[in-house]
Amino acid sequence: MALLPLLEYPDKRLRRKALAVTEFGAELHQLLDDMAETMKSANGIGLAATQVDRLLRVFIIDLTGIEGCDPIRLEAINPQITGHSGSTAFEEGCLSIPGINESIPRSSSVTVSFLDRFGKEQSLTAEGLLAVALQHEYDHLDGVLFVDRLPPLKKQWVKLKAKRITL
Ligand code: CO
Repeated sequence: MALLPLLEYPDKRLRRKALAVTEFGAELHQLLDDMAETMKSANGIGLAATQVDRLLRVFIIDLTGIEGCDPIRLEAINPQITGHSGSTAFEEGCLSIPGINESIPRSSSVTVSFLDRFGKEQSLTAEGLLAVALQHEYDHLDGVLFVDRLPPLKKQWVKLKAKRITL
């Protein structure tokens, strides 16, 4: 396993739309294992392949060790959000936007279908933090960052703040 370099905002590569996975072999498994190690070492609960400069529709989520959450760990390949309902807002952060945490409006429940690392179809309906994490990671695959969902003035402020952190 290896630690992968994390792209950081405002890197343009975070804006690319990821492509569907077609091969479910050793290369994909290596990527998933490396992503898990990278996420763990950065203390993240979710990571999308686009954040490690791999243009594939892959993300991982790990809520084990988060208090008050089901200890869920999942790998989602070619995910699709097939249903959503309700609304909620969580203080979100992102490994690609260090130092910024903002409350973002999201659906409170989502149903997601995806493939596992062996290409087997899976689906789940989630609420709470897992539902928010699924929407956050799904956005990454389309080049969307959580700060994009802030109102314009707040977005401007985040841009300035992120610039100061990287200086
Ligand atoms: Co993120």
